[in-house]
Formats: sequence, structure tokens, C-alpha cells
Amino acid sequence: MIKVKKDIYKILENAFIKLGYDKEDIELKFSAMPDLADFQCNSSFKCAKKYAKKPFDVANEIVDNIEQDERFSFFVSNPAYVNIKLTDKGYNYYANFMKNTTDLGVEKVENPKKIIMDYGGANVAKALHMGHLRSPIIGQSLKNLLVLKGNEVYSDVHLGDFGLQMGLTVAQLEEDGYLDYFFKNSNEKPKLSLELLNEEYPKASARKHDEDFKKKADDYTLKIQKKMQPYYDAYKLIREVSVKEIKKYYELLNTKFDFWFGESEVGDIIDDVVQIFVDKGLAYKSNGALVCDVAEEGEHIPLPRKSEDEPQLYKNPMPPVLLKKYNGGDLYATTDIATVFMRNKEYKPDEIIYVADSRQKQHFTQFFRACKKSGISPESQKLTYVSFGTMNGTDGKPFKTRSGDTVKLEDVVNLVTQKANSKLEKNGIYNNNELAREVGVSALKFGDLINSVNKDYICDLDKFLSFEGKTGPYIQYNGARIQSILEKADIASSQVDIQSNEERKVILNIFKLIESYDICLSELSLNSLCLSLYDVANAFALLYNNIHILSEKDEKRKASLLGLCELTLSALKQGLDMLAIDMPKKM
Ligand code: ARG
Repeated sequence: MIKVKKDIYKILENAFIKLGYDKEDIELKFSAMPDLADFQCNSSFKCAKKYAKKPFDVANEIVDNIEQDERFSFFVSNPAYVNIKLTDKGYNYYANFMKNTTDLGVEKVENPKKIIMDYGGANVAKALHMGHLRSPIIGQSLKNLLVLKGNEVYSDVHLGDFGLQMGLTVAQLEEDGYLDYFFKNSNEKPKLSLELLNEEYPKASARKHDEDFKKKADDYTLKIQKKMQPYYDAYKLIREVSVKEIKKYYELLNTKFDFWFGESEVGDIIDDVVQIFVDKGLAYKSNGALVCDVAEEGEHIPLPRKSEDEPQLYKNPMPPVLLKKYNGGDLYATTDIATVFMRNKEYKPDEIIYVADSRQKQHFTQFFRACKKSGISPESQKLTYVSFGTMNGTDGKPFKTRSGDTVKLEDVVNLVTQKANSKLEKNGIYNNNELAREVGVSALKFGDLINSVNKDYICDLDKFLSFEGKTGPYIQYNGARIQSILEKADIASSQVDIQSNEERKVILNIFKLIESYDICLSELSLNSLCLSLYDVANAFALLYNNIHILSEKDEKRKASLLGLCELTLSALKQGLDMLAIDMPKKM
């Protein structure tokens, strides 16, 4: 709970105790009628029911039993609300409290957790495309919030580097003569570039239905998983080229990882982990593969068939999780289960949070259950799947190029940077590529995060890049404006001593911003933080229009306004920081 609410809560609690009411019934919210009050307490209705009284009388009783505090005034409004308004003394108290603490005085959690966050998840050998944008953006923001609240959090990129794409790519490159160094003892060092991988992987992927080639790719994949030569060394080189590129794009998006592990990190322990299932009698053979049932009651019920030829369908399908392929190869779920095993052995996190797209729901349900069933994840451990929706183009369909290809991340980052550049030129800023990236990426990220994580949304870059409205650039623009005021000011700032509604509004919205951090963590979605940031920026823009800070003659008043500018800037900065969006000095 934010500090101001905590203080009000305490006062209400004392009144409740005096009156013999249950303090669990205290319900305190920001007022739904901001012209009337700042906060409201709706408990009168509940208490009235419990103690057979009239709600209006209860509200009056509560207010009559409130201990005087110069920061607040309490009053009743119809039908039975207890309203709380901050006095100017109260506003100044909390504004200066936030201004004088680092972190704006954000409350830390009572019981900090050790958390591993699994996001990013780019696949080695495949080009990063738009589908890879949401996981790092959402994951990094959730991580930043969890850290700000005092948790111990580690991020792991969990690269996709143990699957069929490895065998496919190596087989294709070999056939096309690029891997003679490994396969034919040629002396010439192989020259593998990203461009080449971007051509070869799609080529191989298109051949998945060619049975011979698929068999070969399966075989190569298995050999790479077993670290057999020359397959493994050839693959290692591909991985290196690919990871370099992946790192570059994650950096451009301000995404950082504590661990650069991949699925392959568990290559050496994966068989032991599968053995746990065998030893516990949880695994059985099905069509040559090794599987483990994870369906719960009411799931995976076979539907009646008219004849043997009809495919078997299921009600509430929840197929068994695949542990080993027909050829003994390891699968996506197996690497995920083994990774939980490894994380628990080495880090013992209280929680693991995965950020992946909604199409993987079944995969996560399956392997979470398999981890619990086998005891690989202890009962006390929370396994969380943050499932995000699809980013669609302005036509409402998944974001594609005009020719129908998936859009590469590289192209999108270049495009937003270019678009930001031309916007900045209109403001008289030329050829500042780093600034253009900061603004462009902020547009992209904010445009994403302002939507509920679990919903699909439309990526409209021109709208996202607008310097007005609910966009990243608008927040940045207001931050830059404040920095320019502070730079031009000829006197030092002071503590805040407010006089106007404009100032009250800014402070109240900063309270809401800080509260939004908790809302975001409980919803595992960043939209309320984005909206609150907009409200702070907007409240400041209103103040800026109505109150002329730099030309203020009264020095005391001016210093206080500059103090509020500093506080607002810290709030905007902190909010953007949580979203891993830069705050430029100038725009
Ligand atoms: N590499 C996967 C993909 O591209 C995402 C990884 C998600 N994380 C996980 N632990 N499964 O779909």
C-alpha cells in the first residue's frame, strides 16, 4: 500500500477499533469523484449490514471518531461514503516525502521472494521477428517492478537452442556446401553470416514435409543433442553467429539478462531428469515415444467414434506430455522440465515466471503439471505463465510484410527509428540517431504495454509515435520539457509548497502511479502503469499551460514550483524506467 493510503488506513483503523468494528472491513480507494474528495472509504455499507445499523449513521460514527490529523479532512457524503481530502499541509507532506526519498518512497514487499524470470526466448538460427517482440518487452518491465519492490530477481533469456531447427539448419548448410570444413575435412574455415542463416533456415524449414530430409534433420538434431562431432561443432558456430545478433537486438530494446542460458544448458542432465519419471512410474511408451499423463479429472475424455477409421477426438483435450521422441531425441517440454530441475538445484527460487505467447498455453500447463507430479518443482514453488496475445497489423491480422512474410525485428526497429527521426526533424533536431532510437523504441514498447498483456492488439506505428496522447513519446516529451525548465531556471528549487489545483492534481496522479506498480504486479500486465504515467504527464502539461513557472516573480513560489518539477520528473523517469524506456534530455 502506498504511504498516504497506509496513513489514512491507520487513522480509520483506530476509529474502527474504538467503535468495535472489524478492521478487515476497511475498504479504502481513490475517490471516484475527484472534485469532491481524494479518497473514499466504502465500509459503512458492510458494517451497517453486519451490525444492523443505517449506513449513513455508520459513516457519521466513523467520521466522529476520527482522530484529528492536520494532513486530512474526513467528511460524509450521500448515501454513506466516508470521504477523505488531503489538506494542503497533507499534499506538501507527501510531495516532499516522495521528493526527499530515493525511489519516491515506494514500499518494499514484506516478504521478498527469490524469482527467476524466463523471457526473451529467441530461437538460435532463426531470424528474430515481430513475434519475438512482446516477451522481452513485457518480461523486462515485470522484472523491473519486482526488483523495485524489493524482490531478488534473475532473468534468463532461455534461448531456443535444442530443437529441430538445429538439425534442419545444419543439414541444409551441409547440403549446400557451407560446412565442408566440418564434414569434409576441408581446410577452409567456414564463413557463416547471419544473412546466410536467414536464407538457409527458411529453406530447410520449407522442406520439413520431405520425409527423407526430415528424418535426416531429426537424426542431426539428436546427434547435436548428444554432442556428437562434427555436428556439434558445426552447430556451435551457428549458435555463436546467431546469438551475437540476438544480443544486439535485445540491447536495442533495453532488455537485459542475468543469464544467457539456452535449452541446451540442461543437455547433460536431461536423461537423469527423464529417469525420475521412469523411476516414479510416471512415464510410459506410446507410439514409440516416452510420455507422462498430465490430464486432470474431467479432461481428455475420449469422444465416441462411429468407426475405427475416424480419428479419436477428446473432450477437454490435455494430451500426455512428451518426454522422449520416437528416436530418443529430447523435446521442448523435456528441456523445460529439466531446466526447472536445474534452476531448483542451483538457485532454489520461490517462483519462476515465464513470459510467452498465448499459443503455448497447453505446453505450459503440461510441463508445470509434470514438474509438480514428479516433485521436480516442490509444492511451495509457484510456477507462473504470463500469456500474451498477438500483435496484429492495422488490417487486424498478424503483423506481416506486404508480401505476407513475417516482419523481421531488425526492420521494425529501423523503421521506428527512421520515423522518429523525421518527427524530431520537425522539432529542429537533426541526425541524432541514438535519440531517434530512444523515441522510436519507446513508441513501440509503450504502444505494446498500454494494452492488457493477455489481449491481442493492433500495432499502428504512426499512432504510437505521436507526440500527443497516450504514447511513449508524449511521456518523454513532457520529461524533456521539465528538464529544459530546470536547466533554464535562474534559482534553486525548494521543498514543495502548493497553492493551486493544478499542483494538487500532479501530486495525486503521482500517488496513483506508485499504486499502479502493485496493480501491475497483481495483474501481471503493465497497462495501468502506462495509463498512470500518461495521467502524470497530462496533469503536468495542464500545469505548464496555466502556470508560468519561469516568469514567476515571487521567488519563493517559483522555487516551490521548480521543486514540483523535480518531483514530477522523478516520477516520469521512474515509471519509464520500469518499462525500460529511456528518458531523453531533449526532444
Ligand atoms: N523459444 C520459445 C519460442 O520461440 C519460447 C521460449 C519460452 N520459454 C520457455 N521456457 N519455454 O516459442
